[in-house]
Amino acid sequence: MSAPLITPYYIVYEEKIRRNLDLITRVAQASGAQIIMAFKANALWKTFPIFREYGVSATASSLNELRLANEELGRKVHTYCPAYTELTIGEYLAGSSHITFNSLSQAERFLPATIAAGVSAGLRVNPRCSVVETDLYNPALPGSRFGVAPEDMPALLPAGIEGLHFHALCEGSAADLAKVLAAFEAQFGHLLPSLKWVNMGGGHLMTRKDYDVDALIQLLRDFRARHPHLHVILEPGSAWTWQTGDLITEVVDVVENQGVKTAIIDASFACHMPDTLEMPYQPAIAEASEEGAWEYRLGGNSCLSGDFCGPWHFDAPLRAGQRLTLLDMNHYTTVKTHMFNGIQHPSIYLQPLEGDPILLRQFEYADYKNRMS
Ligand SMILES: Cc1ncc(COP(=O)(O)O)c(C=O)c1O
Repeated sequence: MSAPLITPYYIVYEEKIRRNLDLITRVAQASGAQIIMAFKANALWKTFPIFREYGVSATASSLNELRLANEELGRKVHTYCPAYTELTIGEYLAGSSHITFNSLSQAERFLPATIAAGVSAGLRVNPRCSVVETDLYNPALPGSRFGVAPEDMPALLPAGIEGLHFHALCEGSAADLAKVLAAFEAQFGHLLPSLKWVNMGGGHLMTRKDYDVDALIQLLRDFRARHPHLHVILEPGSAWTWQTGDLITEVVDVVENQGVKTAIIDASFACHMPDTLEMPYQPAIAEASEEGAWEYRLGGNSCLSGDFCGPWHFDAPLRAGQRLTLLDMNHYTTVKTHMFNGIQHPSIYLQPLEGDPILLRQFEYADYKNRMS
């Protein structure tokens, strides 16, 4: 038995990634839709050889994502970014097969260059259908900056637009998509006959246990039957790496104040699990127990007062040296981590199908220093 890995570290499991890839491949085959991966949720490029086996394509929303997809998935991407500039558009077009504009003014400005580059152009529309409860993650929030609203849509699309894109879901169900799709077709359906493709955005959490995968397949098949000339694209992010990795951390000290016990860990909610504070949500911990008599908050090893989460219950008191497994910390989390407070960044490991975990990345003082100058 090899020595325990040094905490904190993220570990992602090849077996769980393949399980998601198998399911998404099945949905794509059964529905006839193309399902591509949004890089904002997963950029662990050393795991991309696994994704390449399944022929995964990607969608990028920045030049860094586009370049990483070009280099590490070895193909051109679908691109959507809220605003392109004269300085960036050339590089976007060079690395993209499809590009979506967020507004009519952006389309007007960059359509000539897009057509000249032979890239398929699309327009993002806002179907004005809100199914996301958390404002921070709701692209259809009143006053949203995303997509052209139905009342602003000209009778004829700008010449050269070949597709429409909408994105209105976050961790959504097939029933959520059905609602948004109905709103989309009611308001923009008259434009579809002249188009080549529709991109239904992300937020399709088809790898979640309770997701009705058959309903999604049927919904997509029905849409394709109504519009047989359209190529249908979905670009989920979370679904690809949902429940494929954990953050392993160690208790460093336990403090108590006014009856509140806090176990200070060698990781940080603010730095290493930012969604727990932004959303906010309380992650599951493998070692916790709902009926446990011992109640603790966990506190990050930073100086931010709000860098804590909880409470959780445990069957026995927590002590320094105890390891805790914070579950489902791959999608978005590994991309959003940062080095605020100079806190030691977790290493990243891949647990292959067989054998010991493989170290993908260990962070050094130089990583912290080089970000600042
Ligand atoms: C335009 C667009 N496409 C796709 C996604 C991926 O969404 P999710 O990770 O919820 O599936 C997002 C997420 O913000 C997005 O903004």
